[in-house]
Amino acid sequence: MPSSKPKGAISEKELQNLRKQYSKSSLTSSSINKDPIVQFEKWFAEVLESGFYEPNAMILATASKSGRPSVRTLLLKGIDEKGFMFYTNYKSRKGIEIGQNPFGSLLFYWDKLERQVRVEGRIEKLTKEESEEYFNTRPYKSRVGAWASEQSTVIESRSVIVKEFLRYMMKFRTHVPLPPVWGGYRLVPESFEFWQGRPNRLHDRIRYTLQKKGWKIERLAP
Ligand SMILES: Cc1cc2nc3c(=O)[nH]c(=O)nc-3n(C[C@H](O)[C@H](O)[C@H](O)COP(=O)(O)O)c2cc1C
Repeated sequence: MPSSKPKGAISEKELQNLRKQYSKSSLTSSSINKDPIVQFEKWFAEVLESGFYEPNAMILATASKSGRPSVRTLLLKGIDEKGFMFYTNYKSRKGIEIGQNPFGSLLFYWDKLERQVRVEGRIEKLTKEESEEYFNTRPYKSRVGAWASEQSTVIESRSVIVKEFLRYMMKFRTHVPLPPVWGGYRLVPESFEFWQGRPNRLHDRIRYTLQKKGWKIERLAP
């Protein structure tokens, strides 16, 4: 059968030969912090120094009531001792899934540093005041955009949202209030896994699990 691949497309063999050796760093239970949030912040400081285009991009996995997973990229907009904050539309697909099933998983992958972090936990809504505080720091047009887009709904064409955008620009010339369907969430971690690439696929994986007495730390096989 003739190949339907476009000209210049990668072959299976070329894909199979894409392979890297990881040797930049290591992770030991004596070098990591006992508190996973502090450990995350230490790695994140190194990410910020390493010149990533979107250092705070992360993948959020949610699941529907029946357990069907879905993932998407979001921007991490806050981190404190309670968890990881992000902002979105509460009526989007993710918002609906979080409403049905409040557990989620975050993934950070920083290729230059050969590192991955997984975080799992319960997702809770931020208060209206917390969402408002962040919303008001956004540029004017991003605030208008939050009104114009009913995120994840089907639209006839791009002109639908462009028209909505212009309509809301006229409506909110200076002050843009917080849309009732827009706001923040916090993923409150119950477990973390820090992954550091090592030579010969013998990577370091350290898992933290929240227990009554604090965080239990274990090493996982790569
Ligand atoms: C780099 C990047 C950053 C993004 N950041 C956000 C974000 O912070 N909030 C958001 O709602 N969508 C963000 N998006 C869009 C989401 O990936 C997704 O398309 C949108 O939230 C709808 O997802 P859903 O239908 O699963 O709810 C981002 C996309 C990319 C590629």
